[in-house]
Amino acid sequence: MRPTLLPAPLLLAVLLACQVARCFLLEGSATSYAQFRKWNAGLNGTLEFEFKTEQGNGLLLYTDDGGTYDFFEVKLVESALRLRYNLGGGAQIVTVGHDLGDGHWHKVQITRCNENTTLTVDGVGAVSTSRGKEFEFGKLAGNSDVYVGGMPSWYNSKLTLLALPSVIFEPRFNGFIRNLVYADGENTVPRRQEMKSRDVKCGGFPCVESTNKRKSPRALRVYFFLFQLIEYINSPFTIGTLFLLICLIRLYKIHFSSYHHFGFEAAS
Ligand SMILES: *[C@@H]1O[C@H](CO)[C@@H](O)[C@H](O)[C@H]1NC(C)=O
Ligand SMILES: *[C@@H]1O[C@H](CO)[C@@H](O)[C@H](O)[C@H]1NC(C)=O
Repeated sequence: MRPTLLPAPLLLAVLLACQVARCFLLEGSATSYAQFRKWNAGLNGTLEFEFKTEQGNGLLLYTDDGGTYDFFEVKLVESALRLRYNLGGGAQIVTVGHDLGDGHWHKVQITRCNENTTLTVDGVGAVSTSRGKEFEFGKLAGNSDVYVGGMPSWYNSKLTLLALPSVIFEPRFNGFIRNLVYADGENTVPRRQEMKSRDVKCGGFPCVESTNKRKSPRALRVYFFLFQLIEYINSPFTIGTLFLLICLIRLYKIHFSSYHHFGFEAAS
């Protein structure tokens, strides 16, 4: 007997659907944030992500050099997108966009190019030029991770580790984030970043579907709990693995309903 093979187009379709669903909700509570690996921007790194919110203010992203000078802070201020950053020659501010708290997805890009840093939202960009002699972003070993939507509360008692201590007072972001993608010294090809899973517990709820409907907080909490439970029982499991697992279960459900005959034919 030959082994049953999964129909490849179906497998692809399901995997794609799961990829699309990889956004997460930040509830904007006093402890919510998501954490990603360092962005080693260097002289020519890029970083992008998409957000969707109905609020006009909130901290979207922060990363710094561990408490010296350099930082990048992206936030919504009265529904406009504001980048504040420092590469050593003094803080710079770039603001683009308006009405960004309109409940639709918006795409943000930060592009480093030597002395210039470009902030783009939905294809419209503004360039800012840094003063100084060198334009590297910190030093990889000492740089912080990339925080999205808020800062971990342990920073409250470690303000000296922040290049921009006021960041901990920024209102947290309440809404959806997806497709955090960056290129840097570690990966010169832009790639999607995976949330550091232990920090999902601090309030980053993975979206269950890619629909525009907001799940009720209660439903999210249940999913969140399940994610946590599975992580707890089997720690090597990551959210990604879980998504794949769900994909697989769905795949099998579809497989055994509409592709019943195919399955038998392939097996015979
Ligand atoms: C930086 O921007 C300025 C003004 O927009 C431009 O003249 C210069 O060529 C840019 N430098 C780089 C390295 O792109
Ligand atoms: C940055 O520049 C270096 C050297 O030119 C190159 O190898 C690398 O691919 C570039 N990185 C990005 C993210 O473009």
